[in-house]
Amino acid sequence: MRILVTGGAGFIGSHLCERLVNDGHTVTAIDNFSTGRASNLTNLVSSSSFALIEGSILDSTILSPLIKEAEYVFHLAAAVGVFNIVNNPLASLLTNIRGTENVLEAAYETKTPVFLTSSSEVYGKNISDSLKESDDRILGSPVTLRWSYSEAKAIDESLAYAYFVEKQLETRIVRFFNTVGPRQLGAYGMVVPRFVKSALANEPITIYGDGNQTRCFAHVYDVIDAVIAIAFADNTIGKVINIGNDFEISINGLAQKIITETNSKSEIVYVPYEEAYGDGFEDMERRVPNIELINQLVGWKPKRDLSAMITDISAEMKKSS
Ligand SMILES: NC(=O)c1ccc[n+]([C@@H]2O[C@H](COP(=O)([O-])OP(=O)(O)OC[C@H]3O[C@@H](n4cnc5c(N)ncnc54)[C@H](O)[C@@H]3O)[C@@H](O)[C@H]2O)c1
Repeated sequence: MRILVTGGAGFIGSHLCERLVNDGHTVTAIDNFSTGRASNLTNLVSSSSFALIEGSILDSTILSPLIKEAEYVFHLAAAVGVFNIVNNPLASLLTNIRGTENVLEAAYETKTPVFLTSSSEVYGKNISDSLKESDDRILGSPVTLRWSYSEAKAIDESLAYAYFVEKQLETRIVRFFNTVGPRQLGAYGMVVPRFVKSALANEPITIYGDGNQTRCFAHVYDVIDAVIAIAFADNTIGKVINIGNDFEISINGLAQKIITETNSKSEIVYVPYEEAYGDGFEDMERRVPNIELINQLVGWKPKRDLSAMITDISAEMKKSS
């Protein structure tokens, strides 16, 4: 297939491009390099089945012709990362809402299937034991800037779903829970690469809040397996599907595990949320995915544990330092 990947130079996008090319597809990636890097695609530059276009999904003159040429679109381009969203709320909202509108509008012209990547952030502060796709969203005020990412991703889902039910556009929506692995940048507040980087340098590991909040992490290689399984199955059309690993660990436990597994001498320091993100910042205590639906539809389950994630991330960091 001829496939377009928006955000293809990003963390998850670059792994997806590699996988698609390895599977025999011809892939074009569009990226504006805001958080992505051309160097993420080094393994593909010499491939005749791959092209990287620098441009924004907000520019329809670039995006529409690329979608016209494609037989399938994976839409990953987005403004991501809590720091990024809180510091650049307007640009983030525009990218995440208007950008998705542009993708869906152009795809509808040519009836090109769209795979939309949403986020567990849509569940907001819902701290249920196991978040199912149909569960309620619990959000703070729209002017608590953190929630604007959740709002934008939810609007993206509603838009894609409306194209599916009203216009029969083939859409698939996934909600990624925390995904980690090589190429992920800590600079945007992503906790695992940030902790691993500090641990490898024996520098203090900074925990925001008291560290009792829990998180679940999935290895990006498992996530790519899930994406591929969902993208090319017929029983996933028009569905919203969680992708994540349901093993839960506290942030304190995570820091401790990273220190142990990297043989680090790092100490742990605590910084209040307000100091890190500004006044009125809200975080969720936990967010655990229910992964029954994906298992039932395509038989996927995560295979790699947290130790594999820490090993792979530290190996990459050691290589590039
Ligand atoms: N990594 C996670 O844990 C996670 C969790 C939930 C959802 N997601 C979603 O997965 C997708 C990929 O995220 P990621 O973690 O790889 O982050 P990333 O920042 O590495 O990837 C996003 C990519 O989009 C590009 N981009 C941003 N604005 C653009 C624009 N206007 N035009 C073209 N390209 C643009 C960036 O340069 C970057 O390469 C995003 O949609 C994100 O919301 C990721």
